[in-house]
Amino acid sequence: MNQPLTTPPPLVPTPPAISAWPDTETLYRRFDALVKQPMRPLRREALAKVMGYFDERCQGSRRLAEEAKRFIPGGIQHNLAFNHPFPLAIARAEGAHLTDVDGNQYIDFLQAGGPTLLGSNHPGVRDQVQRILAECGPVTGLLHEYEVKLAELVCQSVPGIDQVRLLGSGTEAAMAAVRLARAYTGRRWIIKIGGAYHGWSDQLVYGMRLPGTGRMEALGIPRGATAHTQESPPNDLEALRRRLQFNRLRGGTAAVLVEPFGPESGTRPVHPHFNREVRKLCDEFGALLIFDEVVTGFRAGMGGAQGYFKVLPDLTVLGKCLTGGYPMAGALGGKAEVMQLLVGGIGTSSKRAFVGGTLSANPLCCVAGYYALKEIQRLDAAGQAGRAGDRLRQGLEEIIQRRNLPYVAYNLGSIVHLQTSGVLLLDTGNPLKLLRVRNEAKARKHMMEEMGAAYTAHGLITLAGSRIYTSLADTDAVIDDALERFDRVFQLV
Ligand SMILES: Cc1ncc(COP(=O)(O)O)c(C=O)c1O
Repeated sequence: MNQPLTTPPPLVPTPPAISAWPDTETLYRRFDALVKQPMRPLRREALAKVMGYFDERCQGSRRLAEEAKRFIPGGIQHNLAFNHPFPLAIARAEGAHLTDVDGNQYIDFLQAGGPTLLGSNHPGVRDQVQRILAECGPVTGLLHEYEVKLAELVCQSVPGIDQVRLLGSGTEAAMAAVRLARAYTGRRWIIKIGGAYHGWSDQLVYGMRLPGTGRMEALGIPRGATAHTQESPPNDLEALRRRLQFNRLRGGTAAVLVEPFGPESGTRPVHPHFNREVRKLCDEFGALLIFDEVVTGFRAGMGGAQGYFKVLPDLTVLGKCLTGGYPMAGALGGKAEVMQLLVGGIGTSSKRAFVGGTLSANPLCCVAGYYALKEIQRLDAAGQAGRAGDRLRQGLEEIIQRRNLPYVAYNLGSIVHLQTSGVLLLDTGNPLKLLRVRNEAKARKHMMEEMGAAYTAHGLITLAGSRIYTSLADTDAVIDDALERFDRVFQLV
């Protein structure tokens, strides 16, 4: 097989989107303390008041949610849509705010799950999209100027990317990365980190959310599809080495796939040297290193997490911010030598790993991506959003301390984690522990839903009640307003 490429090209300097990496030793001690003590949910009479908000103020959303149930399974399609007690229907989105169909306004910390780093509906992107729509409509199936411009900008910005294929979503891009790594190395085994999310392809719905859970969510996926997927616990370099050694006796590892901030967008943050050590292990064992930068791409700075950590992966999976909230949010990039195996077109006789997509690289989304990234760069959106994240986390820490709560708030730039129930932090280190925490996980998940509902009732939309994405639109005034609202929610505990 070909050797993985180890000579690093010069790294592009990135603005400091992450002011400081959290002290992970202290954080993990606090996580441990959080999950070892009884839950601290909302007081029951306070919860009744929270639910009253939905009854009194959200009748339009409720009606639409009921209607949705007739035509859509469970009435909900987006896995990040908060559905307790029912999903809100949003009518307007602009900058840092959302307005629902009943006219209630919210601070938007979901940011569509991460892509809208510029804030919602940024005019600098929308105007360009409208121009292209008038010129050639959304799609032609042929080459377009902005397809090349977007690809060039991505290659110039992300240190580990010489060439890029634009795809439909992060899921598609992660799927392509696995296929390409196997095609390039001639090996089968893929090691991912337990708890990480890489989309919903057959081979990667494995060990999701909680480490050690393997095929727990793999309903409908044949065993064969995950037979060569393995998980290794977060931050455990020795366990990873053992896996690589074991696989060497059975044909070798094609790739190690990581979320470079840690599983679930840094819910369990990496120790600062983890990625560098994983890089070394990959080189030692001839495996490709894949960074899934679907969340960190451009949000951690124009160079992504690889620019921040100064660690070069062989392949990079992109999504979300790549197209600034427009569709076709997926791409796979990497070293030219590896990427050559993704050559497209009907005329090619090259050996290739097949990927496709009728609407991939369409002009509408390429122009959106190009101007979104240009604006992110010009306005230092990652840096600004990161500073908003710092301000929010500092304020949350002050409230948590003042109210003597066991909750943990931390941020990796514009990705802010607010752990109140600790459901994603439960210790699932071995099968016995996993069995023991199953019921507890249910109760803690419910508490997280209640907290999420309370945030919503106080005008704050979060990601599933435990994660917050900040954006360029989050001025100091927006963050201070949010902190007052969080304080009112924590008063209910
Ligand atoms: C790290 C990571 N990888 C992959 C994906 C899948 O991307 P998509 O939802 O665009 O398929 C996600 C989505 O949240 C993600 O967070």
